[in-house]
Amino acid sequence: MGERDFLSIADLATGELVDLLDGADKAKARPSSWSSKIKGNQVALIFEKPSTRTRVSFEVAVTSMGGHAIILRSDELQLGRGETVEDTGRVLTRYVDALVVRTFEQERLEKLASASNVPVINALSDRSHPCQALADMQTIREKKGGLEGLSLAYVGDGNNVAHSLLLAGSKLGMHVRVATPAGYAPRSDIVLMSQQNAIDSGGSVTITEVVAEAISGADVLYTDVWASMGQESESQARTEVFERFQLNSDALALADDEVIVMHCLPAHRGEEISRDVMDGSRSVVWDQAENRLHTQKALLAWLLG
Ligand code: CP
Ligand code: NVA
Repeated sequence: MGERDFLSIADLATGELVDLLDGADKAKARPSSWSSKIKGNQVALIFEKPSTRTRVSFEVAVTSMGGHAIILRSDELQLGRGETVEDTGRVLTRYVDALVVRTFEQERLEKLASASNVPVINALSDRSHPCQALADMQTIREKKGGLEGLSLAYVGDGNNVAHSLLLAGSKLGMHVRVATPAGYAPRSDIVLMSQQNAIDSGGSVTITEVVAEAISGADVLYTDVWASMGQESESQARTEVFERFQLNSDALALADDEVIVMHCLPAHRGEEISRDVMDGSRSVVWDQAENRLHTQKALLAWLLG
């Protein structure tokens, strides 16, 4: 106990968040000088949901900084047969130096963290995706030369990705505008925390059901899937509710001329984003995906270094 965890962007002071982004820029510019940053550290990665980017970028981040990654699917662990997260945490703590965990309820992460003596990193929960937001902020900063004063419009479901963007953008002085259909707004406690962040940072937070209100003049357009992992049974119903919330050429026309388009991926072309916008000249999604690697290197180095 006493070790730092990374369960939410809210766990970070603004200065720590900026330091992580600076670290990520350094890791990206000079990867070879980071080759021993976490030498000898054992990192267990537990996945209770599928993953492409998070899984591979964490494994590469760990091994390319001299550590060893142990990838564990929950159905291969006793966790899948009913062993509690607390007992799992107590045991793994005896073997490894950090736990990276993708799961459902945020409370599972909190229980694991309180039973563990090593840092626990949230690799996505139903509530938040803080590692994604780190890469998003690094990407915007590198494309735009800064973050303060920029407007970031998120259009779609008020989900885990939206929550972490709200928290990160508002800490860093951005104007974060979120447009969702009625009934799909971000959680009110996250909105409140973000509004408080914005008071300190000079940013702002707008929550609306009017797409144009969010995207008019925006510097960054962002979207994510309409049905997240665990919501597959709602997919059909959501497709109808979210129809007007697609990032397409009409949306792009309302944004700033120099707008960048972002998506955490995986994308569903023709649903939350049109094919032309996803694959068009304003899209930065591949650089954004790459930056998962660099930001997670900075995160691991900070927690373990
Ligand atoms: N963006 C993201 O977390 O992707 P994966 O689900 O593939 O890890
Ligand atoms: N909101 C999505 C993000 C996937 C990276 C989900 O939770 O499935």
